[in-house]
Amino acid sequence: MSDRRIVLTRPDDWHLHLRDGAMLASVLPDTARQFARAIVMPNLQPPVTTVEHARGYRARINAALPAGVRFDPLMTLYLTDSTSPVEIERVKASGFVHALKYYPAGATTNSENGVTELKRISAVLTAMEKHDVPLLIHGEVTDPAVDVFDREAVFIERHLSPLVDAFPGLRIVLEHITTRAGAQFVAEAPDNVAATITAHHLLLNRNALFAGGLRPHHFCLPVLKRETHRQALLQAATSGRPKFFLGTDSAPHRRHAKESDCGCAGIYTAHAAIELYAEAFEQANALDRLEGFASFHGADFYRLPRNADRIELERRVWTVPERIGIEDGDSDDAIVPFRANQPVLWQLVEQPALNR
Ligand code: DOR
Ligand code: ZN
Repeated sequence: MSDRRIVLTRPDDWHLHLRDGAMLASVLPDTARQFARAIVMPNLQPPVTTVEHARGYRARINAALPAGVRFDPLMTLYLTDSTSPVEIERVKASGFVHALKYYPAGATTNSENGVTELKRISAVLTAMEKHDVPLLIHGEVTDPAVDVFDREAVFIERHLSPLVDAFPGLRIVLEHITTRAGAQFVAEAPDNVAATITAHHLLLNRNALFAGGLRPHHFCLPVLKRETHRQALLQAATSGRPKFFLGTDSAPHRRHAKESDCGCAGIYTAHAAIELYAEAFEQANALDRLEGFASFHGADFYRLPRNADRIELERRVWTVPERIGIEDGDSDDAIVPFRANQPVLWQLVEQPALNR
């Protein structure tokens, strides 16, 4: 491996928002260019709550794929207070739904139908433990009395820690960890507990929300935290421990939905995902740990085969476009990608689609 080029087993994205319709068609090529598979979040409107919904959504994703590109969408269901334990048997039998996502009701974008209290879904969690179906968690309390920067740590203390004790056989992914408390909890938990880490939480601290003015394109949930937390995440991601793996949480919104009186949470990173992770790992002097984090640990946790083909990255500076167009939209309302008009230090070497 030269320091100008790195070759990796093709990575997977273990946490991704693809949306639907014109937005799906516009963002999917960015992910499919880099990743073999992605865990697809179910927070559509209405949310994907049944295997039958997921079957239709998966077909729409496959139909939106550019010709000749191989990509496997790994579907998830959205847990609600009324999810039935019978649905878990359908998940197990489906072969294409790989997990269920728990959003505390009101925690983030399209979470209104989420779970109001964990105890309401205990029969479903028992069925998931029995059928070995992973639970993916948005780990933030919604209690308005809790400071927004403390919501992850308080969630761990109040809800996650008791949950891990109550369901010792349940595989759990604490999604997009943002704090030292998150990294530490997962590091010390048993092997059935893992975490995804986004590129933006590895690269930015909360100063980025206010750099020279209010920066809506750096607003996501859980919100960016202070530098000490970013350092803890970088340390976890580059630790080589199989509990930590790549999940971009790339979450596209139209420009005016973010540059607004009440801007949506979500950062779009899919256009440069693996390159941004390479930047973060280079910063930590740990490029040799990138392949485990990006290509092995997630597949192993989900008990799926590791990918067989490879990608190549080159240390070459390029500039991110100002907008990513949405097929049906006016260009003024297109997606503003992470690092718009700014340099990225690594670049994926394009391969002919036939190589896959
Ligand atoms: O920033 C976020 N955006 N966090 C989430 O949890 C949801 C996501 C979205 O769907 O836009
Ligand atoms: Zn997400």
